[in-house]
Amino acid sequence: MPHSLSSSHIDARAFIERKREGGRIAPAEWHALIRDYADGIVPDYQMSALMMACFLRGLDTGEMTALMEAMLASGATIDLTHLAAPRVDKHSTGGVGDKVSLVLAPLIAALGVAVPMVSGRGLGHTGGTLDKLESIPGFRTRLTLAEARAQVERLGCAMIGQTAEIAPADRKLYALRDATATVESIPLIAASIVSKKLAEGLTGLVLDVKRGSGAFMPELARGLELARTMVELGTTHGVPTVALLTAMDRPLGRACGNALEIEEAIHALHGEGPADLMEVTFALGTEMLLLAGVARTADAARFAMTDAIRGGAAARKLAEIIEAQGGNPGVVEDPAVLPQAAACEIFTAVREGVVARVEPRAVGRGIIALGGGRTTVEDTVDPTVGFVISASPGDRVSSGEPLATVFARDAEGIAAGMAALREAITIADAAVAPLPLVSHRVTASGVEELGAHRAAV
Ligand code: URA
Repeated sequence: MPHSLSSSHIDARAFIERKREGGRIAPAEWHALIRDYADGIVPDYQMSALMMACFLRGLDTGEMTALMEAMLASGATIDLTHLAAPRVDKHSTGGVGDKVSLVLAPLIAALGVAVPMVSGRGLGHTGGTLDKLESIPGFRTRLTLAEARAQVERLGCAMIGQTAEIAPADRKLYALRDATATVESIPLIAASIVSKKLAEGLTGLVLDVKRGSGAFMPELARGLELARTMVELGTTHGVPTVALLTAMDRPLGRACGNALEIEEAIHALHGEGPADLMEVTFALGTEMLLLAGVARTADAARFAMTDAIRGGAAARKLAEIIEAQGGNPGVVEDPAVLPQAAACEIFTAVREGVVARVEPRAVGRGIIALGGGRTTVEDTVDPTVGFVISASPGDRVSSGEPLATVFARDAEGIAAGMAALREAITIADAAVAPLPLVSHRVTASGVEELGAHRAAV
């Protein structure tokens, strides 16, 4: 889109003031602002103030669309239109223990769909696919546009981060929002996710919108609004988009932490993933295969995915991707190649009863306290630390029974991890009913509440 404002017209202070008072920023102004922010002309401190004003005042649909388009225009689009294969990706709004992308990307690519996946880093209390991938020794997430394109052509999949070429404005803004408590906003999340995904040149997009206490939008109504907003934004920009609402009132799977999650994802690709992780993976994978036209029915999609795992094609595809991106592919057969924590300790039940809650925010904050996440933009991430939590809501436990393992750098980390688990895991006389793992499906035609049968397909 052409810019009608030159950089000399930019007065970011005036935009902050206007937004602070509840005014509106016009599309051309968004384009100029984002362009100058990506170029380093608008400084972080002004953008932080503007993001907080947007967070508090909201954006109307026109503003959100302009922000999304401006972020998309800040970089290039991966042009894969010459490929015969459909190009479909999945993105999550963020969770704890959410390693679905690590399983789905190779799995769906093994079934003949091109998956040009652009992911993010940890955000707030949630983990990021890029941080997880970088725990694989040698793995490079910063591919050039040409490298990413060539890899998708050759292998059907690349798993990369934003660079100066791919959605650079969202990369800067995402890190800034993480450090300034401005993540939990429907228009900001929608613009961020959809800008990255449209840069991939997709023919279909599947979104995993988390709900529950560990999600950025905990309430069902807000989760549905976020899903509808993104589905509309994607669809009106020419990419058929479907969203599923999935549970984030407890961590997904057992492993929470970068290298630990890679290991669990590898087990999942070998057919040994935890049931909840596989249910969410298969539900989202089904939507990807249906959008791609590779499967005609949900049953056929599920059969194809199970077969690709059972026959080893999905795990082989992950090894190929890792090797192509400079990592050690041996990790797929031997996860012990991953960096290991220096210290670990078992967390046990303080009393007999039922596991009432495993609170994802406390677990996510615990990972950050252990050094496995960020509190400032500059922080480096320790790939080895985190938790493996075997206890799930509803489990009956006896006093002293092992519920989880803390992985840390040292004794201080072990103490911080134990404290986080004491906050996260509640044992009571009765369990609180957990949310259904996959509860709603949102398409351009509306919202469908999924019954137990459809959710499990
Ligand atoms: N994931 C993103 O990519 N962006 C957000 O703003 C939140 C989650």
